[in-house]
Amino acid sequence: MDVNEISKNLERDEQETISLIPSLPSDIDFNGTKLFKYQSCWYDSKTLQGILNFQRGFKPQETDIIVASFPKSGTTWLKALTVALLERSKHSSNHPLLSDNPHGLVPVLELRLYTETSKPDLTSFSSTPRLFSTHVPFDTLQGALKTTPCKVVYVWRNVKDALVSLWYFECANLKIKIDEERSLLESMFESFCRGVSYYGPFWEHVLSYWRGSLEDSKNVLFLRYEELKIEPSAQVKKLAEFLGVPFSVEEEESGCVEEILELCSLDNLKNLEVNKIGKTARGVEHKNFFRKGEVGDSKNYLTPEMERRIDMIIEERFRGADLKF
Ligand code: A3P
Repeated sequence: MDVNEISKNLERDEQETISLIPSLPSDIDFNGTKLFKYQSCWYDSKTLQGILNFQRGFKPQETDIIVASFPKSGTTWLKALTVALLERSKHSSNHPLLSDNPHGLVPVLELRLYTETSKPDLTSFSSTPRLFSTHVPFDTLQGALKTTPCKVVYVWRNVKDALVSLWYFECANLKIKIDEERSLLESMFESFCRGVSYYGPFWEHVLSYWRGSLEDSKNVLFLRYEELKIEPSAQVKKLAEFLGVPFSVEEEESGCVEEILELCSLDNLKNLEVNKIGKTARGVEHKNFFRKGEVGDSKNYLTPEMERRIDMIIEERFRGADLKF
């Protein structure tokens, strides 16, 4: 294809996007942002543009690895673990995690690489496996992978902890004091319960990957943040096997699993210089990705009534699925 043809195709894609977005169902989320419903989930128009570009232009390779999650469900940890597992034989010093944040090392396809174009320059991803991430649900991701079976690792987390984590993250990004922003939590909670929230509904998201993992367990791994916390060694070994880089007996005996867990621990990452001072390409301070990492912390912020209401919604939505929440 010559240069003129490429630019004509890009223009056509742009036109299609411009006419598609306003034709989709729309609603307003907790902070007044207009969201559009595309393939059963909700996005702002910029994110949706990135998703459409990604679905059109992404050329998957069988060796690609995609880290997927609903926002605030343990993405940073999973990215760090994936990098650490794949890089473990290559670095004794200057490990990539010491000089970049996990989000810099594993960019979000629709939020970073494909935001402006369906043909981004991916030459810096020349070595294999290429590592990417996404927050889109499984069916939308499949639209971009077409028929190439990449490895997809998904992490999910208790909805209440994800919600409180998101609240903290928003407050940190907006530089507002958490105790002054109880009303923000309440409106976010309403958006979550209605299902009209960025990348939501939460339950559609989780169920899409759960089904995906049942249909194709060789290529879709479904992990849970709480299980990673309870039995990190077993879960990391499972992840290593899935990624095709299992630990050898010698590695296990020499403490390699524990070293990786220590490198990727919340305390260690949080205290690295690069994570104390840096920012992502989108301007988010690295430090905002690290908070407490505690299971059940939402209890300290949600009222019993809020907990009951969201538990009931999730129970109903997950009915028939063998998922503990
Ligand atoms: P809390 O806000 O509950 O502390 P994401 O990475 O998807 O944005 O999710 C952020 C949540 O993961 C935050 O939870 C954050 O503290 C926690 N987290 C970040 N890095 C972690 C790590 N290395 N280990 C465990 N939890 C981590």
